[in-house]
Amino acid sequence: MGVPVSLDELLGDEVRRDPYPFYARLHEAGEAARLRPTDPHALVVHGYDAVNRVLRDPVFRVLGADYLDRAGVRWRQHQVTRILQSSMLNAAERDHLRVRHLFSQALTPRRVAALEPAIGRIADDLLDRLAEAGADGRPVDFMARFALRLPSDVIGELLGVPEGDREWFPPRVRAFDAVLEIGRRSMREVRAANVAAAELTAYFTGLVAARRATPRDDFVSALLRGVEAEPGRLTADELLANLIIMYNAGFRTTANLLGNGLVLLTERPGARAELRADPSLAASYVEEILRYEPPVHFAVRYAAADTEVAGLPVPAGRTVVVLTGAANRDPRRFPDPDRFDPSRADNRHLAFSAGPHYCFGATLARAEGRLVLPRLLDRFPALTAEPGPRRALMLRGYDRLPVRLTGAHPSADQVPCQTNLIE
Ligand code: HEM
Repeated sequence: MGVPVSLDELLGDEVRRDPYPFYARLHEAGEAARLRPTDPHALVVHGYDAVNRVLRDPVFRVLGADYLDRAGVRWRQHQVTRILQSSMLNAAERDHLRVRHLFSQALTPRRVAALEPAIGRIADDLLDRLAEAGADGRPVDFMARFALRLPSDVIGELLGVPEGDREWFPPRVRAFDAVLEIGRRSMREVRAANVAAAELTAYFTGLVAARRATPRDDFVSALLRGVEAEPGRLTADELLANLIIMYNAGFRTTANLLGNGLVLLTERPGARAELRADPSLAASYVEEILRYEPPVHFAVRYAAADTEVAGLPVPAGRTVVVLTGAANRDPRRFPDPDRFDPSRADNRHLAFSAGPHYCFGATLARAEGRLVLPRLLDRFPALTAEPGPRRALMLRGYDRLPVRLTGAHPSADQVPCQTNLIE
């Protein structure tokens, strides 16, 4: 693209409200665009092929400790950034491989499959509570009461967090997450994120000690077995940071999949009826929701050596904004990209990224979407949503999503029995 794009425009209110017209303009001009010389990043990369390459090419790296130190960022003074930097999200190649391999051995597809009945139970329980809250026909906030609770409870179940402790997590994870969105944060937000980071660290220190003393058949015990089989493979900081990051990485993202997905379906009665009639379509619905309204819109990488993207130079040390959200709407890759079409063939979107940092929890997130969306439609066939604007771009979703459950089906144990009816 000849004319540079402005980062202010990309992060401005209009694009945050609806980024797709802006993405469409980018696609008309090529695969990547220069940013203005005063912007902190060299390029935005938005074409599907270019995004896919940058995410996989080892010349492009995540902004780990080395990068931040060279850039003079004072990150060590904040516990929240120390955790982010010790986690796989920001680990450099060899450390990343080592940590990710250990964690992957504990989060096998079998373990995720075994979690499915618990996901169903957690969803049904939260739907009961949602039904209760909205029984009088007044709007209830789907995000606070359901979408932000479910992923947190599911990770809690996976990690073996006792049920009684689970409500403790969402406010802390939300406070921690505030530092993930791009742009300036207030000191109050940073302080709250650091407090949450300290509390989460203390909680997981206790949980790890408990599983060390008495192993169970759960993820943390499996992880500790792997760590003990090869002493020195994982530091204590890395262990805690990655447990916390699993909570955080799977929280807002999955909540946004559910919130964005619910709104898409309420706006499309035909699609909603189709999925309700045939829940076996849920897996392809989830893929199309992820392509069409991805919960995460971009990642940032830096060039470890001089390179180029789509013919545009990227000098060593400069960063690029990798717009996965735009790649998912690239007309060169997805015919008629602005059409929501769950029957799309070859729907290999980039909502979970690509390359070495491909989402560690993708199988779990997919299972959550596939199991939850049909339950939600079935339970509340007349649900209507009143979505407000979405403000964040990095983690794109609703802060609040008022829904009316009018016409809600009573859950099995609330169905009036014969004697009630006679009375
Ligand atoms: C719909 C839900 C989800 C979406 C859209 C999503 C998206 C992503 C994306 C885009 C990345 C890569 C970031 C980058 O390339 O820089 C990522 C990484 C990651 N995700 Fe997810 N995620 C979801 C759910 C989950 C869940 C449920 C977990 C819990 C286990 C999880 C754990 C992680 C972790 C630990 C990473 C870091 C992986 C690494 O750097 O090697 N995610 N996710």
